[in-house]
Amino acid sequence: MKKVIIGVTGGIAAYKIPELARLFVRGGIDVQVVLTPAAAEFITPLTFQTLTGNPVYVEMYGDRTGERVRHVELLEKADLMVIAPATANTIGKMALGLADNLISTLYLAADCPVVVIPSMNVNMFRHPAVVANIEMLRKRGCHVMDPDEGELACGVYGSGRMPETYDIFNFARRAVMTKDYQGIEVLVTAGPTREPLDPVRYISNPSTGLMGYSLARALSDRGAVVTLVSGPTHLRVPTGVKLVSVNTAAEMHEAVLSSFSRCRIVFKAAAVSDFRPAENWDEKVKKEKASMALQLASNPDILLELGKTKDDKILVGFAAETENAVQNAQDKLSRKNLDLIVVNNLKEPGCGFAVSTNRVSLIGRDGEVEEIPMMEKEELAHLILDRTAVLIKN
Ligand code: CTP
Repeated sequence: MKKVIIGVTGGIAAYKIPELARLFVRGGIDVQVVLTPAAAEFITPLTFQTLTGNPVYVEMYGDRTGERVRHVELLEKADLMVIAPATANTIGKMALGLADNLISTLYLAADCPVVVIPSMNVNMFRHPAVVANIEMLRKRGCHVMDPDEGELACGVYGSGRMPETYDIFNFARRAVMTKDYQGIEVLVTAGPTREPLDPVRYISNPSTGLMGYSLARALSDRGAVVTLVSGPTHLRVPTGVKLVSVNTAAEMHEAVLSSFSRCRIVFKAAAVSDFRPAENWDEKVKKEKASMALQLASNPDILLELGKTKDDKILVGFAAETENAVQNAQDKLSRKNLDLIVVNNLKEPGCGFAVSTNRVSLIGRDGEVEEIPMMEKEELAHLILDRTAVLIKN
């Protein structure tokens, strides 16, 4: 996506839209904001102009002579139009095909996907006229997001509240994403496992789960039905993803096996602890025991086990190495019967655990190594999905 038009109409939730514009701008997307005159009462054009670096339009007609037809010019190369907040009035006009301001005109002239974020009082939202209008927009292909429930600006509690900005951003991104994973059941594992020693101590690793969560989000955006088996993390579960929370490798093992049979693809991004304390104390171990030797026991290798019964399923493994990265990953790929392995060198700056970027190599079954430049894990997730999509087709 290169260019988005954000149409802001006159509701109190308009004050949240600069944050939405910023999310698009941060993603390198050109943002063109258009306000209705009522929206300009709630939030100033200057705010958006400063954030987006583009002129902001409120009026239908240009004030300069020789200016091209404004709505035609604005729509050029637009990949997406987002109307947020969309008032009952604007939704009604869209349903009827009226074009009496710049936003309603842009909507009629747009040939890109249109996302509508209704936001209004709960009674208005439930009114049969509004319900029918929203229904009509959906039938015509608009992506209408359901509002949240909560305290509304008018003081009552109910449905009609504009969803969180980040959720709107993700909903909008989904509308333009290729749906090459539509309906495919996918299992993703993410995060570390924790192997308890006693009620307050455990063996673990610094994984934050970001790679796995980025994959889950990208898969869901591309239409997959995603189950995310996750060790402890602080990350938000992506919209539409089914989360199964686990703590230990044994719990992850059980959760993965119970979903495996119905999944077509598995992304095993979790940093599973290979060992656990052989003994697990019920009470906190006292410091007098400092000199005791800790016996370890091996955890099951989940991916190895999946590889033995995979049939035509696609298995994607991950390896974080500190030496001989490609060689070690190639060994893991063949030992665990994988279709693709994603490997990085933990010693390289900006790579591996607890950073938002990674530089990886992708190795396929044919042994071919693709060196990927350093990039954000969110972006890397899509690239990994691009490569895996080819395997589904084969
Ligand atoms: N893996 C797993 N179960 C384990 C250990 C690893 O499913 N008990 C999976 C990881 O999720 C990852 C892949 O196997 O996708 C490689 O993990 P890694 O820890 O690099 O490999 P190991 O086989 O444990 O080898 P080593 O730790 O000796 O390098």
